[in-house]
Amino acid sequence: SKHLTHTADLSKEEILQIFSYAKNFLDFKKRDDLNGKLIINIFFENSTRTRSSFEIAAKRLGADVVNLDVARSSTSKGETLFDTAANLDAMGPDAIIVRHNRAGVPKILSKYVKCSIINAGDGAHQHPTQGLLDLFTLMQKWGSLEGKKIAIIGDIRNSRVANSDIELFTRFGAKVLLVGPPQFLPQTHFPTTNSLKEAIDFADAVISLRTQTERHKNPTFSSLQDYAQNFKVTKKLIGNKDIFVMHPGPVHRNIDLDDEIMDDERCLVLEQVKNGVAVRMAILKHLLGDSK
Ligand code: CP
Repeated sequence: SKHLTHTADLSKEEILQIFSYAKNFLDFKKRDDLNGKLIINIFFENSTRTRSSFEIAAKRLGADVVNLDVARSSTSKGETLFDTAANLDAMGPDAIIVRHNRAGVPKILSKYVKCSIINAGDGAHQHPTQGLLDLFTLMQKWGSLEGKKIAIIGDIRNSRVANSDIELFTRFGAKVLLVGPPQFLPQTHFPTTNSLKEAIDFADAVISLRTQTERHKNPTFSSLQDYAQNFKVTKKLIGNKDIFVMHPGPVHRNIDLDDEIMDDERCLVLEQVKNGVAVRMAILKHLLGDSK
């Protein structure tokens, strides 16, 4: 089976093929591309967007979807993750979509099951379908990322979205700037800054990220209010600049982005979510559509 555990699993050609499917799927019509396929969602971390959009995407393509209620599953009785996956795999799904707080879980599971494994976010490592929907959203606006400048703002060290975005954006020709307080910046060869103003001056698009306090081991970080003082993207800061503002969600409103910019037409947050359904339909078609 084909898996998607990391953005680098897909070649540029495969990504462009997925985007060409996604453009057709933006009408959200019901289709039969995946009739008879079975997809299981197992989310060990909470989700609003990824889980529901995968379910909608699968159903729009005619597949059946089972959502394992992890909190009520037998993992609470001590069954291991591997046994959980092996038992679900024995029920004959075509794909298992997994989110887990440990980096590397989807990759390891892919070696133990017959079906496709799709990574819906693993720890601070990767969120490939988010990266793809972010890339798609910008390609829809710009046609190409060649020479474009994208600033990624916030808790980058803990962000799987940042990892997936950076890998894809740079592969498609964009320059990235990583922006945040020192304790949020990773060890990296990419340029970094602590100045939001510098980032906004530089960028054709900014991607704001949620501060992931649930992943902070040493609370070097004082408060979300302190973070907001220096890193909240506001309408006042961006003025009349021709720039897109994005966020993968969930947004800490008036911490990451202010109310005014959330309502601005340059803010693509809900367009990202809409595109996310079409891109996930396209990913499912690419991975499962011509299997057997
Ligand atoms: N962007 C994203 O992964 O959102 P959820 O955590 O709600 O799925």
